[in-house]
Amino acid sequence: MAEVVVVANEDAAGALVADTIVSLIRSKPDVVLGLATGSTPLASYRALARRIADDAVDVRGVRGFALDEYVGLPAGHPESYRAVISREVVEPLGLTPELVRVPNGDPASIEHAGADYEAAITAAGGVDLQILGIGRTGHIGFNEPGSSLASLTRVKTLTEATRLDNARFFDSPADVPMHCITQGIGTILRARHLVLLAFGAAKAHAVAAAVEGPVSASQPGSAIQLHPHTTVIVDEAAAAELE
Ligand code: F6R
Repeated sequence: MAEVVVVANEDAAGALVADTIVSLIRSKPDVVLGLATGSTPLASYRALARRIADDAVDVRGVRGFALDEYVGLPAGHPESYRAVISREVVEPLGLTPELVRVPNGDPASIEHAGADYEAAITAAGGVDLQILGIGRTGHIGFNEPGSSLASLTRVKTLTEATRLDNARFFDSPADVPMHCITQGIGTILRARHLVLLAFGAAKAHAVAAAVEGPVSASQPGSAIQLHPHTTVIVDEAAAAELE
């Protein structure tokens, strides 16, 4: 059973996440972080950036792997996860850009992009701490309902619900790509510690299904129950449907 921590708000969650990651960096300066994008982890990244600056934490050796990327956005598109990870994580935290990888969503090399990414994670010794958000559909990474619990990094089609949810980052819903490349559920489960964050009432159902529902491919978040070390950090609204 995952450890569930209910916090007052995203800033309180951010403080917890920052504490955990700073301790990890101190014990392992070349720690491998698994990085989610989306709105959910932003307060945590901000808190971590402040802690790193205030405590003069040496992060030059920290490595990172993003969970996912859109397929087919032009290089440098501001909403590509490559750009988002640079803007929200690498720059504010002061990480070494070459040590932070994002799956390659370029259609020209998409055939081997999944296997390349898996090989890079393995060569890095695996992810020490994986930050996760969760979609209203229950997805983790972009593993939508129906994704195999053993899946590895591969191309997936985004559901209409997820494209609509992510339309807020684009000029129009039609601009949200149809496809993504995402770490699989099997990839995510290999990380040594999962930290799943969720805030707000819209996530309450997905959180309850992930933490307490049957383990099922129709609720990808429920795969966290297969992992021996998972921490779920939620606010009251996201915790509302937990028993
Ligand atoms: C992002 C990701 C997704 C998001 C999820 C929640 O890299 O893999 O699973 O974590 O879609 O998105 P937000 O945080 O924007 O509600």
